[in-house]
Amino acid sequence: MGRIASLATLAASLVVVVGQTYQRLGGCPSLGCVLPPDQSDFLPGQYFDLRVEVHAPVNGSEAFNSGKPDENFSVTITKEGGRKKSIAEFFRIKEPELEKWDFHWYEDLFAEDADTPSVVNVAAKAYRRLAIYEPGTYVVELSYYGGQKTQAEWVVRPLATKKKAKNVILFIGDGMTTNMITAARLLGHKSINGKYQSLLQLDKFPVLGHQMTHSLDSYITDSANSASALYSGHKSTVNAMGVYADSSPDAFDDPKVETIVEILRRVWDSAWGAVSTAAIADATPIALSGHSRSRYNYGSLVDQALNSVTNYTWTNQKGPDVWFGGGAEQFYPGKDSYKGQDYYAQFAKAGYDISLNKTSLLQLGNNSKALGIFCKSHMPVWLDRNVYTENLAAFSNDPLGKKAPALDLPGLKEMTLKAVDILHQRGGKKGFFLMSEGASIDKQMHTLDYDRALGDLLELDDTVRATIAHLKALGELENTLVLVTADHGHGFDVFGGVDTKYLSSQSTNRDKRRAVGVYQNSGLSQYTVPAKGVSYNTGAHFPVNWDPRYTLAQGFGASPDHRENFRVHKGGPRLPATNISGFEADDLFANPVDGQDGFIVNGTLPTDEPQGVHSLTDVPVFAMGPCADTFGGVYGNVDVFYKIASCLGLGRPDAKPGKLAW
Ligand SMILES: *[C@@H]1O[C@H](CO)[C@@H](O)[C@H](O)[C@H]1NC(C)=O
Ligand SMILES: *[C@@H]1O[C@H](CO)[C@@H](O)[C@H](O)[C@H]1NC(C)=O
Ligand SMILES: *[C@@H]1O[C@H](CO)[C@@H](O)[C@H](O)[C@H]1NC(C)=O
Ligand SMILES: *[C@@H]1O[C@H](CO)[C@@H](O)[C@H](O)[C@H]1NC(C)=O
Ligand SMILES: *[C@@H]1O[C@H](CO)[C@@H](O)[C@H](O)[C@H]1NC(C)=O
Ligand SMILES: *[C@@H]1O[C@H](CO)[C@@H](O)[C@H](O)[C@H]1NC(C)=O
Ligand SMILES: *[C@@H]1O[C@H](CO)[C@@H](O)[C@H](O)[C@H]1NC(C)=O
Repeated sequence: MGRIASLATLAASLVVVVGQTYQRLGGCPSLGCVLPPDQSDFLPGQYFDLRVEVHAPVNGSEAFNSGKPDENFSVTITKEGGRKKSIAEFFRIKEPELEKWDFHWYEDLFAEDADTPSVVNVAAKAYRRLAIYEPGTYVVELSYYGGQKTQAEWVVRPLATKKKAKNVILFIGDGMTTNMITAARLLGHKSINGKYQSLLQLDKFPVLGHQMTHSLDSYITDSANSASALYSGHKSTVNAMGVYADSSPDAFDDPKVETIVEILRRVWDSAWGAVSTAAIADATPIALSGHSRSRYNYGSLVDQALNSVTNYTWTNQKGPDVWFGGGAEQFYPGKDSYKGQDYYAQFAKAGYDISLNKTSLLQLGNNSKALGIFCKSHMPVWLDRNVYTENLAAFSNDPLGKKAPALDLPGLKEMTLKAVDILHQRGGKKGFFLMSEGASIDKQMHTLDYDRALGDLLELDDTVRATIAHLKALGELENTLVLVTADHGHGFDVFGGVDTKYLSSQSTNRDKRRAVGVYQNSGLSQYTVPAKGVSYNTGAHFPVNWDPRYTLAQGFGASPDHRENFRVHKGGPRLPATNISGFEADDLFANPVDGQDGFIVNGTLPTDEPQGVHSLTDVPVFAMGPCADTFGGVYGNVDVFYKIASCLGLGRPDAKPGKLAW
């Protein structure tokens, strides 16, 4: 209530800016910028940096003051009902040095086509490693150009000092939507007369909520800033994690926010780990420890995970207890590792057991910190690891960088169960936090490879099932908050069934479309019906036939040009669109060798977009265990952080470590 009322007053004092696709700087309402911006929330005691910038556009529609930024700006903070104080006085720190730089940006597509960027000169300061311990509403005010003001209202959420969950396991199905879960259920579970005979593990969770995934400055998010929102309670800009993106050229000096595992280690000294079927430096796993404007700084982000942020004063972290995934190119010495260093050696020196294949993963002890990197790039998907295994030989993804395929690969389940054993042992009474990601749900949806994406969704569900059973066996199920959610969605759905034999036999695009059966002609799933001569031995909860005559008719809200035959891509991952001879390299068309007996689906995306894209949809949050009830309903992605942090008792009235109740 109070917040809404005071916002009305606040809005009146701000320069009105219209939301636009090209922005000078996200979260910056006028020529003065305060980061964290208006509407930011904080956990009491959470570390963060404050960046203020004053912009002087040299040219373009906003040209001002002959391009000379005010260097004599001032910043204050006022707690609701309290006295206005300078930042230096309030936080008892020294006034930082003035910084200056310039940057350029395009105001719209016409400016981009004409290559006429607008240039902006900047005067700025960064106040580093601050924390507010007292809950309440605060207004930060930047004053510049003799009377202009930019205000940011911040809310420090209520204290939460009691630890209600000993452990938290956060499963992230990257890009996973309710529609995909529904489709995966249809593939892996048999139904009779419209009733399922078995269910997904996700279907059995007692609490379901929905989170809204918008970024700070765009309503469609990417996996970096959406992971960052889940882990830090602060929204950010596409491609940024653990920071608010400022306008400086340095991708590492942006104002940082402390993440859940950094706070958890500082407050309770708990163990933490990350497991992913992506490269471990990929956005979702790396955002737990990474602080950068650009998710593409893979090498330095790996260094940050081990050595913490070394460039600026920050929390002194010890690195994850468990780190399992792909992305070997950031570890063996070479062009993709930080400063060309050998990070296998760096981790070994820091006391980690190193594992490079499934055999050695399963043999790891439970006592030592563990690094498991099983291949280059993202791990091959479940369908190739378990059904079309001959495809693995085509990868050149050896974890030591040799020109050879990685063949002894663990799956998400083996990695997650081993991670639980190590974290359980190392965390002891102090408990643990584990993030486990089914990464290729997203990656394979991007390439419109439904079967590979849904196979990985079933693998995630199978992993959740096995993890719950394992926690029970360890006597930890009652102490563990288990969450399964996503970071964003794709506009995917199933709209009928397809007779692939009929489709293949027709010769025109329009005749082939008659093979799509809608409503009563969608039929029943044949993926659960055993077929003669087909045996995958992949266990219950997975299809018994991946290549039936009648398949699912599926598609996207947005796609590049592609050709659709609605059949599993047996020969390896799909490439839906590509450049063709006679056209520019970035002018993409349906891949001539993809689904050759199918029909053309013309795209709706820009013609240089090779893949499908993220979409607007809210994503589900499944919860069980301590605090599960707080996850029902509809809320923002940042609220997932506050709910977890509150359950872990991380909202502190001072900087001292917590005292355990057990
Ligand atoms: C800088 O601002 C302060 C008030 O914030 C004012 O007293 C002082 O005269 C200003 N200095 C310059 C050089 O403009
Ligand atoms: C602004 O100035 C730069 C550098 O002189 C120039 O390249 C750019 O085209 C100018 N932009 C506009 C919008 O005039
Ligand atoms: C420190 O900052 C420099 C300069 O921005 C950057 O090149 C480097 O990667 C950063 N180091 C780490 C470990 O983040
Ligand atoms: C697995 O890794 C171990 C060392 O960690 C190595 O000795 C063994 O040869 C590897 N096995 C395979 C199949 O690559
Ligand atoms: C690790 O912990 C699990 C679960 O308690 C146990 O089954 C396994 O034997 C342990 N492994 C080692 C090497 O101690
Ligand atoms: C596609 O683009 C790549 C990169 O420019 C080029 O090497 C290749 O020849 C192009 N392929 C065709 C079929 O034009
Ligand atoms: C439809 O897609 C095909 C294959 O990529 C392409 O040749 C054709 O130009 C597209 N049609 C339109 C109207 O874009």
